[in-house]
Amino acid sequence: MKTETGIRVSLVMARTLDGRTARSLNDPLDWTEAADKAHFSALTRRMGLVLMGSKTFDAMGGPLPGRKNVVFTRFPESRVSVSGDLAFTSGSVDAVLDGLAAEGYGEAALIGGSRLNTAFAKAGRIHELFVTVSPLIFGAGPGLFSEHIPMDLLLVNAEPLGFGSLLLHYRVRHGGCHDA
Ligand SMILES: NC(=O)c1ccc[n+]([C@@H]2O[C@H](COP(=O)([O-])OP(=O)(O)OC[C@H]3O[C@@H](n4cnc5c(N)ncnc54)[C@H](OP(=O)(O)O)[C@@H]3O)[C@@H](O)[C@H]2O)c1
Repeated sequence: MKTETGIRVSLVMARTLDGRTARSLNDPLDWTEAADKAHFSALTRRMGLVLMGSKTFDAMGGPLPGRKNVVFTRFPESRVSVSGDLAFTSGSVDAVLDGLAAEGYGEAALIGGSRLNTAFAKAGRIHELFVTVSPLIFGAGPGLFSEHIPMDLLLVNAEPLGFGSLLLHYRVRHGGCHDA
């Protein structure tokens, strides 16, 4: 059971109306509206800490400035960190979050992709979700999670974003975190 002193993790992702988060593997995230990019930047900069899988990092092409970037990979030794704001780790979800909490971080944005999201959900370390529904249909592609993840959510807020997107904020009641 996690205590309330642990890092509060918010999953921050965009998806299409049919629930896809990418068109294919290594797909660049070039299909969201400017207003969603602004929302993502403001929210993650406020949190100061972004957590991602190596495939998402590679798809982004580099670290997000002004935030600490922690990239999960089984092979951190094969990656080169160019600054103190970029770290590669093969640690467990719990160990990495505990280490970041000890560094003083209280909040983190989990920014994908579906495989790392699944690892966090299985560890019970997702507290909130900020999901942007984009006015697109891809027909195929990954979703928010790569495996069956049961989660019971409470809607906190829903608001239009940009020209055709919808920003949904949910709190996890059961399933994503042990102390909800
Ligand atoms: N729509 C959105 O908001 C959004 C957001 C983010 C990403 N995406 C898209 O999603 C796609 C990438 O997602 P993905 O699910 O394929 O990959 P991903 O979750 O970004 O990365 C998977 C990789 O992360 C590492 N990893 C995952 N869990 C780990 C764990 N518990 N411990 C250590 N390492 C772990 C492994 O790296 P190694 O193989 O290096 O060991 C694994 O291959 C891209 O196309 C991207 O554009 C969309």
